[in-house]
Amino acid sequence: MKNSNIKLKNKTVLVTGSSGFIGANLVLELLRTQQSIKIIGIDNMNDYYDVSIKKYRLKQIEKAVAEHPESSWKFIKGSIADKALINEIFETYKPSVVVNLAAQAGVRYSITNPDVYIESNLIGFYNILEACRHSYDNGQTGVEHLVYASSSSVYGSNKKVPYSTEDKVDNPVSLYAATKKSNELLAHAYSKLYNIPSTGLRFFTVYGPAGRPDMAYFGFTNKLRNNETIYIFNYGNCKRDFTYVDDIVEGIKRVMQATPEKKLGEDGLPIPPYAVYNIGNNHPENLLEFVDILQQELIRAKVLPEDYDFESHKKLVPMQLGDVPVTYADTSALEADFGFKPSTSLREGLRKFAEWYREFYLDK
Ligand SMILES: NC(=O)c1ccc[n+]([C@@H]2O[C@H](COP(=O)([O-])OP(=O)(O)OC[C@H]3O[C@@H](n4cnc5c(N)ncnc54)[C@H](O)[C@@H]3O)[C@@H](O)[C@H]2O)c1
Repeated sequence: MKNSNIKLKNKTVLVTGSSGFIGANLVLELLRTQQSIKIIGIDNMNDYYDVSIKKYRLKQIEKAVAEHPESSWKFIKGSIADKALINEIFETYKPSVVVNLAAQAGVRYSITNPDVYIESNLIGFYNILEACRHSYDNGQTGVEHLVYASSSSVYGSNKKVPYSTEDKVDNPVSLYAATKKSNELLAHAYSKLYNIPSTGLRFFTVYGPAGRPDMAYFGFTNKLRNNETIYIFNYGNCKRDFTYVDDIVEGIKRVMQATPEKKLGEDGLPIPPYAVYNIGNNHPENLLEFVDILQQELIRAKVLPEDYDFESHKKLVPMQLGDVPVTYADTSALEADFGFKPSTSLREGLRKFAEWYREFYLDK
């Protein structure tokens, strides 16, 4: 196990994408579990999906701040692609830990809207790296750890499962995946050149309350409610790792507190303090089983009536081009280094999602 070498107490943490699904949950968890933490959040509040969900998440954060007055929270609405703004934030607040979660997500959207991926995921990430680099200017302590989101999509159409960080990931099959793989490459170069401790996290399909409406479980729920048909690819014979958001956040929190080691190579030059981990459930679930549990939980939470006719709203269809039948994460490195493995069951996670959905959309 790695020793934790960063104590978050009294530290300033910058979370980018802080109104996003994972970002907001991370901020909430830090406020609830860390004493006297100073959190700066930045998000451009874009309308890729319903902005009211982002606003709801910000409200949850404000409530948590009120309950933890020893800690502080500052929200900045802006883009990480705005270099001057990022530099100003680093100069003003001097964050010790940076967690970069801001990005344009989604594989399909990158086909029709490529520009925003280049802007947020490449230029934005580059601005963060440059600001980390200059945080050490004039002998300042600077950024002690940069943690950033990568994605399981970097595995492309690899056939070998479980997906391991030891596997070759040189064949991305979407622009989104290519930007995430590029983030890992850029981080490696900056870790090597400027000794920035950096850890990339490849997340595997994250779900939970106030999640992303562009993801299947949320989209299925909306469609079923609207009496539309849901399409289940490969006749449901797909297996995926579904990871509950609290597990992801616990993983990020642990990783934030232990940097990759700084050491010198045989040539006397620094070996990059660089690491990449998978965070997934390591327990692939059959898509049909997933939909089945979702249905049951939607009825239990009274999102759908007890006599809902699921069979007439479900179509089993062949595989989509480029889809892979089974994907899941090898999480042995995360377990070995951080003593942690996601453990929330699908039933428990989908129950929380269904209950939140009911409260957010129907109990108003
Ligand atoms: N949710 C998943 O299943 C999953 C899987 C793999 C990787 N990821 C990655 O994890 C990170 C967080 O994902 P999420 O699910 O919370 O997505 P999200 O879309 O809910 O959160 C991202 C947030 O970043 C903000 N943002 C986008 N571009 C920005 C910019 N240029 N400047 C400032 N803010 C910007 C958005 O407004 C959004 O609130 C992303 O990097 C995503 O690619 C997520």
